[in-house]
Parts: sequence; structure tokens; C-alpha cells
Amino acid sequence: MLITHVVGARPNFMKAAPVLAAFAKRGWPQMLIHTGQHYDELMSDLQFRQLQIPKPDVNLGVGSGTHALQTGAVMAGVERVLIDRRPDVLVVYGDVNSTMASTIAAAKLQIPVAHVEAGLRSFDRSMPEEINRMVTDSLATYLFTPSADGDDNLKREGVAPKQIIRVGNVMIDSLIRNLPMADSTKVLAPLGISGGYILVTLHRPSTVDSPEILEPMLDVLATLAKKLPVVFPIHPRTRAHLGTKWASSPGLHIIDPVGYVEFLGLERDARLVITDSGGVQEETTFLRVPCITVRDNTERPVTVTTGTNTIVGRDPARLLTVANERLANGFVPGGIPELWDGKAAERIADALEKALMP
Ligand code: UD1
Ligand code: UDP
Repeated sequence: MLITHVVGARPNFMKAAPVLAAFAKRGWPQMLIHTGQHYDELMSDLQFRQLQIPKPDVNLGVGSGTHALQTGAVMAGVERVLIDRRPDVLVVYGDVNSTMASTIAAAKLQIPVAHVEAGLRSFDRSMPEEINRMVTDSLATYLFTPSADGDDNLKREGVAPKQIIRVGNVMIDSLIRNLPMADSTKVLAPLGISGGYILVTLHRPSTVDSPEILEPMLDVLATLAKKLPVVFPIHPRTRAHLGTKWASSPGLHIIDPVGYVEFLGLERDARLVITDSGGVQEETTFLRVPCITVRDNTERPVTVTTGTNTIVGRDPARLLTVANERLANGFVPGGIPELWDGKAAERIADALEKALMP
């Protein structure tokens, strides 16, 4: 038996780490393909080290490109490995181009695909990730969902109920495992921050690719930074669009991406998080830290209905109003969604054991 995993971009690494570890514990033969969609030391190698992910068996080195070029390069590279190694199952994570591309390659070779984080839907096809989610879920054999909304979405799309397996959230497995190591001081001390602060991440094309959206949002962050320091570890996509306009804005600290354990510390200790990230909405829910999401929708509705997340859209005035409210009131009530308990990867291993080794 051989199980092959594909990862490519930063959020895949936190999802794959606990699954790789759970399978290793059971002694299952496995191999790891890194597509190379993300390749910077701070976006990939650092996260691998901190999450103790084994060195990939293959790195396809596809790098950046248009959607079609990147997707095509991953398909061609993954197909080569799959033909060579013929795994019994391919495990894919999340909703990035590497996820969809490797799923298509496997499905055409009739290799079963297990999708971890299946069923999430924003119902917004202008998001590249929504296309990736729909294609991946329509081709996968095993659909491991993090929450009940995922099950409902898949059933509505006609997926057979026996293919849908609710396991909970693997990203929270990683969070729980790494929280004891979480440390914000390494980032905050050099910035001279010892009290409260706002943590920001922005990287969605719909937020950062057009200056008409991004610049007014930065103006709001600069306004907030006059009251409370703002720490903004910036994604390379955003860095490319931002230039140096806000480099010397008082209190606004735009820094390189940070390691996972530093970022967990920054989330845990923040007064408020402002983001458009998928994973950050979930992590702040678990940590019960108020989160404002600057998007028009979310594919993770439980972070709003159960957790601490508020969707404010991309209107800068509304962002400023809600951020000020959150800072004034401090506390947002929030619970932890069902099965976000650190055991999702074990449930995936149990389900695959039943399916592959009856
Ligand atoms: C990708 C995912 C997105 C996910 C995000 C997580 C897709 C369609 N998008 O978006 O769902 O939320 O990763 O971070 O799969 N770049 C670097 N160094 C790197 C990686 C990227 O400089 O290591 C720059 C390049 O200029 C590149 C740009 O960032 O063109 C975008 O990278 P890409 O992987 O295409 O998409 P992301 O915006 O990172
Ligand atoms: N993260 C990190 N360093 C950073 C910013 C984020 O390690 O500087 C982690 C964060 O804790 C979460 C993941 O990256 O686990 C989220 O990835 P990202 O926001 O890039 O992608 P998304 O979840 O939106 O697809």
C-alpha cells in the first residue's frame, strides 16, 4: 500500500502536518509531493521545520504563474509521479490550485482522491478557490468535512452520503499541538510593542490586487495604528502591490511573513485580528480572539455563527466602525465548533483504515 499527499501553498502545510503524523504513527507507507506553488523560505521551508513535516520526497518546483500555467504545471508534474508510483490513494488539502490540479491528474488515472477540508462553499465563483473546491469535491472519492455546513453543501450537490465523512478541522489539530510553543515576543520585542495590538493579514486577489480597494483599507489601518499598534506580516502577493507608501506610517508595522508558532502567538495575544484569510478566521475562533473579515462572504460560516468572526465586506468605513466597536467592547462571545478538538487527523486515519484495509 502507498498513500501519497500533495501540498503546495502555506495553508496546506498546517493541514497536512497532523495527517502525515497520524499515518506515520500507524506505520503506513506514504510519500509527500510539494508542488512548489509557494517557495520562499518564509512561506514554505520555515513552516515545514516548525510543523516538523518530513522533507518532501518530490518537489515539483512549479512556482508562480497564471492560473492555467500553474494548474497545468502541477497536473503534469503530479501525473508523472502518480504513473511512476501508482499510490492507492492521493490525499489533497484545502482549496489552492495545487489541490485541484493534483485531483484532476489522479482522477484521470483512476487513483482515488481523499479531500481534506471538503464541502466548504462561499457561493462566490469570482474566488479562484471556489472553483478549486467545486472541482476537487466533484472528483474526490473520500470527502472529509470540517463542519456540518460542508456535509449539507455536498449533499445538495448530489454527493453520495457514504462518501461524506465529517472529521472536524485538521488546522485546529495543528493549532492545539503547537500552542504550547506559540510565542509572539520574538516578533513584538524588536517592534517595541509590549501592550495591546491589532494583527492584520491580507492576501486575497479581491482585496489586494486593485489599488482602489487596497489603499483605502491601508488608510483605515493607518488610522487605527494611531491608537493601537498594528502588526501586519505581509504576504508576498500583497507586498508586490503595496509599494512603500505606508512604510513610515506611525504605529503601522508591515513586516515579512512570520513562522507558524510566532503567528499563533500573535493571534492569541492580539486585541483584534483583521484578515481575509480562511485559516485565520478558524484559528481566531478557536482562540476566542475577535476577528474582522474584510470579505463579502465566507466559506467558513461556523466562524461567524459559533465563533468570533464578523464579516464586514470591503467598505473601509464599515471596517473602521466595526474595528472601533470591537476595541471599545473588547469581548466577542464565541464557542468552539463541534469536532474542532485536535483529533481530526486520527478520525481521517480511522476512516481510511476502514476503507482501504477492511
Ligand atoms: C494562494 C492560494 C490561496 C491561498 C494562499 C495562501 C490559489 C489560487 N491561491 O494564493 O487560496 O489563500 O495561497 O497564502 O491557489 N509569491 C512569492 N513567493 C512565494 C509564493 C508566492 O513571491 O513563495 C508571490 C508571487 O508573486 C506570486 C504571488 O505571490 O505570483 C501569488 O502566489 P500564488 O501561489 O499564485 O497565489 P497566492 O496569492 O499565494
Ligand atoms: N500564517 C503564518 N505566518 C504568517 C501568516 C499566517 O504562519 O505570517 C499561518 C496562519 O497561522 C494559518 C495559515 O498561515 O495557519 C493561513 O494561511 P494563509 O492565510 O496564507 O491562507 P488561507 O488560509 O487564506 O488559504
